[in-house]
Amino acid sequence: MNIDAHTGNVVNFYDTHPINEQQILEKLRADGIGLATLNEDILQLYDMDHYDGVEAIDVLAQKAGISATSQVLDVASGMGGPARYLAHNYGCRVMGIDLTESRVEGAIRLTELTGLSDRVAFRTANALVNPFSDQTFDVIIGQEAWCHIPDKQRLIAECVRVTRIGGHIAFTDILEGSGLNSGQREELSRGMGYVDLGTLAGYQGLLAAAGCVVEEAENLSARWAVILRQRQEMYRSLEAQTVARFGEAVYRRWDDVYTLFVGLIEQGQLAGGRFLARRR
Ligand SMILES: C[S@@+](CC[C@H](N)C(=O)[O-])C[C@H]1O[C@@H](n2cnc3c(N)ncnc32)[C@H](O)[C@@H]1O
Repeated sequence: MNIDAHTGNVVNFYDTHPINEQQILEKLRADGIGLATLNEDILQLYDMDHYDGVEAIDVLAQKAGISATSQVLDVASGMGGPARYLAHNYGCRVMGIDLTESRVEGAIRLTELTGLSDRVAFRTANALVNPFSDQTFDVIIGQEAWCHIPDKQRLIAECVRVTRIGGHIAFTDILEGSGLNSGQREELSRGMGYVDLGTLAGYQGLLAAAGCVVEEAENLSARWAVILRQRQEMYRSLEAQTVARFGEAVYRRWDDVYTLFVGLIEQGQLAGGRFLARRR
Protein backbone atom coordinates (compact mmCIF):
# COMPACT_ATOMS: atom_id res chain seq x y z
CA MET A 1 0.00 0.00 0.00
CA ASN A 2 1.47 3.38 -0.94
CA ILE A 3 1.36 6.34 1.44
CA ASP A 4 -1.61 8.03 -0.23
CA ALA A 5 -3.74 4.89 -0.16
CA HIS A 6 -2.66 4.40 3.44
CA THR A 7 -3.66 7.97 4.36
CA GLY A 8 -7.09 7.44 2.79
CA ASN A 9 -7.47 4.19 4.70
CA VAL A 10 -6.66 5.87 8.06
CA VAL A 11 -9.04 8.75 7.41
CA ASN A 12 -11.80 6.30 6.45
CA PHE A 13 -11.09 4.26 9.59
CA TYR A 14 -11.59 7.33 11.81
CA ASP A 15 -14.54 8.67 9.77
CA THR A 16 -16.37 5.40 10.58
CA HIS A 17 -14.99 4.79 14.08
CA PRO A 18 -17.45 3.63 16.80
CA ILE A 19 -16.16 6.40 19.10
CA ASN A 20 -17.03 9.70 17.42
CA GLU A 21 -18.41 13.16 18.18
CA GLN A 22 -22.06 12.18 17.58
CA GLN A 23 -21.74 9.09 19.75
CA ILE A 24 -20.26 11.20 22.57
CA LEU A 25 -23.10 13.75 22.32
CA GLU A 26 -25.71 10.97 22.27
CA LYS A 27 -24.18 9.33 25.34
CA LEU A 28 -24.18 12.65 27.20
CA ARG A 29 -27.86 13.14 26.29
CA ALA A 30 -28.73 9.58 27.35
CA ASP A 31 -27.02 10.24 30.69
CA GLY A 32 -29.15 13.37 31.18
CA ILE A 33 -26.28 15.85 30.76
CA GLY A 34 -27.34 19.05 28.96
CA LEU A 35 -24.77 20.79 26.76
CA ALA A 36 -25.34 24.07 28.62
CA THR A 37 -23.98 22.50 31.81
CA LEU A 38 -21.18 20.52 30.14
CA ASN A 39 -17.66 21.11 31.44
CA GLU A 40 -14.31 19.33 31.13
CA ASP A 41 -14.73 17.45 34.42
CA ILE A 42 -17.73 15.72 32.83
CA LEU A 43 -16.56 15.47 29.19
CA GLN A 44 -13.29 13.77 30.18
CA LEU A 45 -15.33 10.68 31.10
CA TYR A 46 -16.62 10.40 27.49
CA ASP A 47 -14.06 11.64 24.98
CA MET A 48 -10.78 9.70 25.30
CA ASP A 49 -9.54 7.38 22.55
CA HIS A 50 -6.50 5.80 24.19
CA TYR A 51 -5.92 3.19 26.90
CA ASP A 52 -6.16 3.80 30.66
CA GLY A 53 -8.15 7.04 30.53
CA VAL A 54 -7.01 10.21 32.25
CA GLU A 55 -4.52 8.31 34.46
CA ALA A 56 -2.45 7.63 31.34
CA ILE A 57 -2.43 11.35 30.51
CA ASP A 58 -1.36 12.21 34.07
CA VAL A 59 1.56 9.78 33.84
CA LEU A 60 2.80 11.41 30.61
CA ALA A 61 2.22 14.93 31.96
CA GLN A 62 4.09 14.28 35.19
CA LYS A 63 7.00 12.51 33.53
CA ALA A 64 7.32 15.35 30.99
CA GLY A 65 7.01 18.06 33.68
CA ILE A 66 3.96 19.79 32.18
CA SER A 67 3.03 22.93 34.14
CA ALA A 68 0.89 26.04 33.67
CA THR A 69 3.62 27.67 31.57
CA SER A 70 4.05 24.73 29.18
CA GLN A 71 3.29 24.91 25.46
CA VAL A 72 2.23 21.39 24.53
CA LEU A 73 1.69 19.76 21.12
CA ASP A 74 -0.48 16.63 20.91
CA VAL A 75 0.59 14.81 17.74
CA ALA A 76 -2.45 12.98 16.30
CA SER A 77 -4.87 14.51 18.81
CA GLY A 78 -8.09 12.77 17.72
CA MET A 79 -11.17 14.40 19.23
CA GLY A 80 -8.99 16.37 21.61
CA GLY A 81 -9.72 14.64 24.91
CA PRO A 82 -6.09 14.67 26.17
CA ALA A 83 -5.54 18.27 24.98
CA ARG A 84 -8.58 19.54 26.89
CA TYR A 85 -7.70 17.48 29.97
CA LEU A 86 -4.14 18.88 30.07
CA ALA A 87 -5.25 22.50 29.66
CA HIS A 88 -7.95 22.12 32.29
CA ASN A 89 -5.90 20.25 34.87
CA TYR A 90 -2.39 21.64 34.35
CA GLY A 91 -3.24 25.15 33.08
CA CYS A 92 -1.01 24.77 29.99
CA ARG A 93 -1.72 25.74 26.37
CA VAL A 94 -2.21 22.82 24.01
CA MET A 95 -2.20 22.59 20.21
CA GLY A 96 -3.41 19.39 18.58
CA ILE A 97 -2.71 18.26 15.03
CA ASP A 98 -4.56 15.42 13.34
CA LEU A 99 -4.79 14.00 9.83
CA THR A 100 -8.56 13.37 9.91
CA GLU A 101 -10.64 16.47 9.31
CA SER A 102 -13.78 15.05 10.96
CA ARG A 103 -11.73 14.44 14.13
CA VAL A 104 -10.35 18.00 14.09
CA GLU A 105 -13.79 19.52 13.50
CA GLY A 106 -15.22 17.40 16.34
CA ALA A 107 -12.32 18.38 18.61
CA ILE A 108 -12.93 22.08 17.97
CA ARG A 109 -16.68 21.81 18.65
CA LEU A 110 -16.21 19.76 21.84
CA THR A 111 -13.59 22.26 23.05
CA GLU A 112 -16.01 25.16 22.47
CA LEU A 113 -18.62 23.31 24.55
CA THR A 114 -16.20 23.16 27.50
CA GLY A 115 -15.14 26.83 27.21
CA LEU A 116 -11.47 25.91 26.72
CA SER A 117 -10.98 27.37 23.23
CA ASP A 118 -8.77 30.18 24.54
CA ARG A 119 -6.10 27.64 25.55
CA VAL A 120 -6.71 24.62 23.30
CA ALA A 121 -6.62 24.69 19.48
CA PHE A 122 -6.54 22.11 16.68
CA ARG A 123 -5.32 21.99 13.09
CA THR A 124 -5.65 19.42 10.34
CA ALA A 125 -2.10 18.34 9.52
CA ASN A 126 -0.03 15.27 8.79
CA ALA A 127 2.48 14.62 11.58
CA LEU A 128 5.08 13.85 8.89
CA VAL A 129 4.83 17.46 7.69
CA ASN A 130 4.54 19.22 11.03
CA PRO A 131 3.36 22.79 10.31
CA PHE A 132 5.21 24.43 13.23
CA SER A 133 8.61 26.13 13.34
CA ASP A 134 11.66 24.67 15.06
CA GLN A 135 11.57 24.62 18.89
CA THR A 136 7.95 25.85 19.25
CA PHE A 137 6.87 23.49 22.07
CA ASP A 138 8.04 22.49 25.55
CA VAL A 139 6.40 19.07 25.37
CA ILE A 140 5.18 16.77 22.61
CA ILE A 141 2.69 14.06 23.55
CA GLY A 142 1.07 11.23 21.61
CA GLN A 143 -1.21 8.35 22.64
CA GLU A 144 -2.02 5.19 20.65
CA ALA A 145 -1.79 7.09 17.36
CA TRP A 146 1.71 6.93 15.93
CA CYS A 147 1.04 3.29 14.95
CA HIS A 148 -0.83 4.77 11.95
CA ILE A 149 2.12 6.85 10.72
CA PRO A 150 4.27 5.21 8.04
CA ASP A 151 7.74 6.75 8.37
CA LYS A 152 8.74 6.56 12.06
CA GLN A 153 12.17 8.07 11.45
CA ARG A 154 10.64 11.17 9.87
CA LEU A 155 7.86 11.30 12.47
CA ILE A 156 10.37 11.33 15.34
CA ALA A 157 12.61 13.84 13.52
CA GLU A 158 9.63 16.17 13.07
CA CYS A 159 8.62 15.82 16.73
CA VAL A 160 12.17 16.56 17.87
CA ARG A 161 12.49 19.52 15.48
CA VAL A 162 9.49 21.36 17.00
CA THR A 163 10.56 20.62 20.61
CA ARG A 164 12.70 23.23 22.37
CA ILE A 165 16.13 22.13 23.56
CA GLY A 166 15.61 20.57 27.00
CA GLY A 167 11.93 19.89 26.25
CA HIS A 168 10.32 16.44 26.42
CA ILE A 169 8.64 13.98 24.06
CA ALA A 170 6.35 11.65 26.01
CA PHE A 171 4.17 9.10 24.23
CA THR A 172 2.57 5.69 24.28
CA ASP A 173 2.08 3.55 21.20
CA ILE A 174 1.08 0.16 19.84
CA LEU A 175 4.25 -1.73 18.93
CA GLU A 176 5.33 -4.90 17.20
CA GLY A 177 6.18 -7.48 19.88
CA SER A 178 7.35 -11.00 19.02
CA GLY A 179 6.34 -10.46 15.38
CA LEU A 180 3.52 -10.77 12.86
CA ASN A 181 3.07 -12.90 9.78
CA SER A 182 2.36 -11.18 6.47
CA GLY A 183 -1.38 -11.99 6.62
CA GLN A 184 -1.72 -10.44 10.09
CA ARG A 185 0.28 -7.41 9.02
CA GLU A 186 -1.94 -6.91 5.97
CA GLU A 187 -5.13 -7.38 7.99
CA LEU A 188 -4.05 -4.81 10.62
CA SER A 189 -3.05 -2.36 7.90
CA ARG A 190 -6.31 -2.73 5.96
CA GLY A 191 -8.60 -3.00 8.98
CA MET A 192 -7.01 -0.62 11.51
CA GLY A 193 -4.59 1.52 9.51
CA TYR A 194 -1.55 0.25 11.45
CA VAL A 195 1.64 0.54 9.42
CA ASP A 196 5.37 -0.04 9.94
CA LEU A 197 4.81 -0.53 13.67
CA GLY A 198 7.61 0.64 15.97
CA THR A 199 9.31 -1.51 18.58
CA LEU A 200 10.60 -0.74 22.08
CA ALA A 201 14.21 -0.79 20.84
CA GLY A 202 13.38 0.83 17.50
CA TYR A 203 11.80 3.96 18.97
CA GLN A 204 14.69 4.31 21.45
CA GLY A 205 17.15 4.18 18.56
CA LEU A 206 15.22 6.73 16.51
CA LEU A 207 14.91 9.14 19.45
CA ALA A 208 18.62 8.88 20.24
CA ALA A 209 19.59 9.33 16.58
CA ALA A 210 17.37 12.43 16.35
CA GLY A 211 19.20 14.09 19.25
CA CYS A 212 17.35 12.97 22.39
CA VAL A 213 18.31 11.34 25.65
CA VAL A 214 15.88 8.47 26.16
CA GLU A 215 14.97 8.71 29.84
CA GLU A 216 12.43 5.87 29.97
CA ALA A 217 11.07 3.09 27.74
CA GLU A 218 8.49 0.85 29.43
CA ASN A 219 6.69 -2.23 28.21
CA LEU A 220 2.94 -1.81 28.88
CA SER A 221 1.78 -5.03 27.20
CA ALA A 222 0.52 -6.87 30.28
CA ARG A 223 -1.67 -3.96 31.34
CA TRP A 224 -2.95 -3.36 27.81
CA ALA A 225 -3.98 -6.99 27.35
CA VAL A 226 -6.45 -6.52 30.21
CA ILE A 227 -7.68 -3.11 29.04
CA LEU A 228 -8.21 -4.22 25.44
CA ARG A 229 -10.57 -7.06 26.41
CA GLN A 230 -12.66 -4.48 28.29
CA ARG A 231 -12.55 -2.11 25.32
CA GLN A 232 -13.79 -4.82 22.99
CA GLU A 233 -16.81 -5.30 25.27
CA MET A 234 -17.37 -1.51 25.22
CA TYR A 235 -17.27 -1.45 21.39
CA ARG A 236 -19.69 -4.38 21.27
CA SER A 237 -22.04 -2.44 23.54
CA LEU A 238 -22.09 0.25 20.79
CA GLU A 239 -23.17 -2.26 18.11
CA ALA A 240 -26.67 -0.82 17.58
CA GLN A 241 -25.37 2.76 17.28
CA THR A 242 -22.48 1.78 15.01
CA VAL A 243 -24.75 -0.27 12.71
CA ALA A 244 -27.30 2.57 12.59
CA ARG A 245 -24.63 5.15 11.69
CA PHE A 246 -22.28 3.21 9.39
CA GLY A 247 -24.06 -0.06 8.46
CA GLU A 248 -23.79 -3.73 9.42
CA ALA A 249 -20.76 -4.44 7.19
CA VAL A 250 -18.64 -1.73 8.86
CA TYR A 251 -19.52 -3.04 12.32
CA ARG A 252 -18.70 -6.67 11.36
CA ARG A 253 -15.36 -5.69 9.79
CA TRP A 254 -14.55 -3.65 12.89
CA ASP A 255 -15.39 -6.50 15.27
CA ASP A 256 -13.37 -9.03 13.24
CA VAL A 257 -10.22 -6.93 13.07
CA TYR A 258 -10.51 -5.86 16.71
CA THR A 259 -10.77 -9.52 17.73
CA LEU A 260 -7.53 -10.18 15.81
CA PHE A 261 -5.87 -7.14 17.41
CA VAL A 262 -6.77 -8.09 20.99
CA GLY A 263 -5.58 -11.67 20.41
CA LEU A 264 -2.24 -10.48 19.06
CA ILE A 265 -1.68 -8.28 22.12
CA GLU A 266 -2.60 -11.17 24.44
CA GLN A 267 -0.19 -13.49 22.61
CA GLY A 268 2.63 -10.91 22.71
CA GLN A 269 2.87 -10.54 18.92
CA LEU A 270 1.84 -6.92 19.40
CA ALA A 271 2.96 -4.87 22.40
CA GLY A 272 2.43 -1.54 24.13
CA GLY A 273 5.13 0.95 25.06
CA ARG A 274 5.59 4.25 26.89
CA PHE A 275 8.55 6.49 26.07
CA LEU A 276 10.03 9.59 27.67
CA ALA A 277 12.81 11.44 25.86
CA ARG A 278 14.48 14.82 26.38
CA ARG A 279 15.88 16.89 23.53
CA ARG A 280 19.60 17.50 24.04
C1 LIG B 1 -6.52 6.46 18.47
S1 LIG B 1 -6.67 8.10 17.84
C2 LIG B 1 -5.84 8.90 19.19
C3 LIG B 1 -6.53 10.10 19.71
C4 LIG B 1 -5.99 10.76 20.95
N1 LIG B 1 -4.55 10.53 21.14
C5 LIG B 1 -6.73 10.33 22.19
O1 LIG B 1 -6.08 9.78 23.08
O2 LIG B 1 -7.93 10.56 22.32
C6 LIG B 1 -5.46 8.18 16.56
C7 LIG B 1 -5.48 9.48 15.73
O3 LIG B 1 -4.30 9.51 14.90
C8 LIG B 1 -4.62 10.30 13.76
N2 LIG B 1 -3.58 10.14 12.74
C9 LIG B 1 -3.28 9.02 12.05
N3 LIG B 1 -2.25 9.26 11.20
C10 LIG B 1 -1.87 10.54 11.36
C11 LIG B 1 -0.87 11.38 10.78
N4 LIG B 1 -0.04 10.93 9.84
N5 LIG B 1 -0.78 12.65 11.20
C12 LIG B 1 -1.62 13.14 12.14
N6 LIG B 1 -2.61 12.40 12.72
C13 LIG B 1 -2.74 11.12 12.35
C14 LIG B 1 -5.99 9.77 13.38
O4 LIG B 1 -6.66 10.65 12.50
C15 LIG B 1 -6.65 9.62 14.77
O5 LIG B 1 -7.43 10.75 15.08
